[in-house]
Amino acid sequence: MEKRLIYSLVLLNFFCCKIIAFDVKYIWKWGVVMKLPDYTKAKMRKDKNENVISYNIDKSLIGKYKGKKFFLKTYGCQMNEHDSENLCAMLLELGFKQTDNYEDSDLILLNTCSIRENAHNKAFGMLGRVKHLKETKKDLIVGICGCMAQEKVVVDKILDKYKYVNFVIGTHNMDHLPYIVDKAINTGLQEVEVYSEELDLVEDMPLKRDTTYKAYVNIIYGCDKFCTYCIVPFTRGRQRSRKKEYILKEINKLIKDGYKEVTLLGQNVNAYGKDLYDGYSFSDLLRDVAETKIERIRFVTSHPWDFTDEMIDMIAKYPNIMPSVHLPVQSGSSRILKLMGRRYTKEDYLELFKKLKDKVKNIAISTDIIVGFPGEDEEDFLETLSLVNECKFDNAFTFIYSKREGTAACKLLDEVPIEEKEERLQRLNNLVNKYFLENNKKLVGKVEKVLVEGISKKKNHYFGYTEGNKLVNFTGNDVEVGSIVPVKIMDAKTWSLDGEVDG
Ligand code: 5AD
Ligand code: SF4
Repeated sequence: MEKRLIYSLVLLNFFCCKIIAFDVKYIWKWGVVMKLPDYTKAKMRKDKNENVISYNIDKSLIGKYKGKKFFLKTYGCQMNEHDSENLCAMLLELGFKQTDNYEDSDLILLNTCSIRENAHNKAFGMLGRVKHLKETKKDLIVGICGCMAQEKVVVDKILDKYKYVNFVIGTHNMDHLPYIVDKAINTGLQEVEVYSEELDLVEDMPLKRDTTYKAYVNIIYGCDKFCTYCIVPFTRGRQRSRKKEYILKEINKLIKDGYKEVTLLGQNVNAYGKDLYDGYSFSDLLRDVAETKIERIRFVTSHPWDFTDEMIDMIAKYPNIMPSVHLPVQSGSSRILKLMGRRYTKEDYLELFKKLKDKVKNIAISTDIIVGFPGEDEEDFLETLSLVNECKFDNAFTFIYSKREGTAACKLLDEVPIEEKEERLQRLNNLVNKYFLENNKKLVGKVEKVLVEGISKKKNHYFGYTEGNKLVNFTGNDVEVGSIVPVKIMDAKTWSLDGEVDG
């Protein structure tokens, strides 16, 4: 009897320990609540839109850290750049001042990207440098946010090997930054607050825009496409559209403040509205934004699958919608496109490409291409080169496939040696560069409208972008940054044009 009792107690103890161990790992660590990323939850797609709430900050936090400085480093895409405008504004609200010198700061925040291995390496490289600083500056606070924060492998690594990182905050609860910073400073404990399920959409976040003439405007968050190579549907969650009222209000305010250009942002802007179920689509939004009469409208990024004829008609109809579309193709091989889960063939892409070229006068089309996807052979790669020869893109971002933990492609056998992938990338780059130059040369002698973005070191030298999104270095007298001026194109290079103000 006694033996049985002891046996039962041992068993009970074992199970209790398991349960407690589970809780310790996922909920408590050194007495601090941890909210860790979870890909199973991140993969779930609900069929409902979240509530919209207004950004709120405890008044006692405003200005609390006056005299302290922060250093913010941003990796990745425009979405991250725009998030950093929010992060920066929240820290300014706390009383911090921004510094460009991380060694001179009291808080270092890395807004990270997960898209490829090298983005990870860059952030971890920076953390390495920060470690040395932390050894001499004990009160320094170090935080990680952005897409890497949503990855379990990253957070596990931070908990294990980067104990000097004070906090990790995810992409869905960026607005909690003031509280997590305050807690980190006051407790000195390591905090992880990452939600893998989407939270309410937050409006009226503080924003410190990088310029006074062009602005990013979020229209849709997350992505439901699940391309097999891509980590974004996990790190950014389900597709959630912002209500048009908020978008248009923001744009009208920008016009009032003198802004000339807006870029509508989303992982896939074409899917805008699909989750709102009110029949209002991206083409409707394009029309309404164009009707605000803002001078320039751009949008990124477009998935070819969702590109409707109505959208093309809107771009063609409104002169303030810039004739410039970023249309990632990823591969020219229909077999690889299928493995990538892109849901279009090479022929579908070419048909859409042709339609855009035929209907929108002077349209410039750029793209993204991945080489070395698992199973890509020379024949597939030649298909990509042949597509480039047909499309003659105005710009292209080219990448070697990078295996991302948790994605479907991660399980595919990847037998292409890295040397071969590098050689393919080189061949591809040589070809795309040839067409960049060829397209740029066609503009020589023409007058292009350029939004002036900056002044070069040399007197009377400026730079800016054409309607087709081409960089122009030009000369002129007393040109104002933020104005739109006619520039005569005098010379063409592979990645830029040279010109002079016309008239
Ligand atoms: N490896 C390489 N490139 C990738 N991209 C997205 N995921 C990966 C990956 N795992 C590229 C795609 C996308 C762009 C933003 O980054 O081309 O369009
Ligand atoms: Fe990088 Fe994608 Fe996240 Fe942008 S959304 S930061 S590209 S992983």
